Amino acid sequence: MTIHLKTAEDICKMRVAGKLAADVLEMIGPHVQPGVTTGELDRVCHKYIVEQQQAIPAPLNYNGFPKSICTSVNYVICHGIPSDSKVLKSGDILNIDITVIKDSFHGDTSKMFCLGETADHAKRLVRITQECLYKAIAIVKPGITLGDIGHVIQRHGETHNYSIVREYCGHGIGRIFHDDPQVLHYGEPNSGTHIVEGMTFTIEPMLNAGTRYTKLSKTDGWTVTTKDRRLSAQWEHTLAVTNDGCEVLTMRSDEQL
Ligand code: MF3
Ligand code: CO
Ligand code: CO
Repeated sequence: MTIHLKTAEDICKMRVAGKLAADVLEMIGPHVQPGVTTGELDRVCHKYIVEQQQAIPAPLNYNGFPKSICTSVNYVICHGIPSDSKVLKSGDILNIDITVIKDSFHGDTSKMFCLGETADHAKRLVRITQECLYKAIAIVKPGITLGDIGHVIQRHGETHNYSIVREYCGHGIGRIFHDDPQVLHYGEPNSGTHIVEGMTFTIEPMLNAGTRYTKLSKTDGWTVTTKDRRLSAQWEHTLAVTNDGCEVLTMRSDEQL
């Protein structure tokens, strides 16, 4: 395992890439309405990233992924492929996951959208999942471990009777999209790799309303769903570890930590 520590100069570039990824999520917000297709959301994001930001949508052709963003609706956990036949409707919950490359560095972030009249139980899953991400971010500083991060997420999720997806995790990020280390969303306190200044990684918890078990689509090879077809939610940020905490590189203006 090789963790690529970033220089101050690298972090400057990561800050730019992170801001661009966050800006895409802010830009797409008003387009997320009942009646729109996930294929249309992909086209709007692709155009914005390529033409306005002069950046590269990292998912496009990544290991054969066919689109520029991931759109994961309701019981889709992650890696949903945008499609012109997937029409969003009132009550849906949607994750949009954006990764851009700018000046060779990646910024990776996702958020949930609740469309129209969403059930209270669905809104609660979405909120608790975001709290898991925020609680994890709050403890990141040199000296803690990756196990501490996983533990905070697992405890908050399971306290609210949700299950934590284990097959997919956060990751080191920089010049490489999915780098070491793996950032698990469950774990034991004071276990695993120690965090040091200059590390950059994502935290991207996925919580399920039912069991934690997942199913990978045999048809497209990408779409990951809950095995029991109950709802799933995910939120993601890219972070840089500082001398006394961390900087959220993909912060949006609609958030306050
Ligand atoms: N953005 C996802 C992540 O958080 C990865 C998407 S890879 C793709 O790591 F190929 F599915 F786009
Ligand atoms: Co990621
Ligand atoms: Co992502």
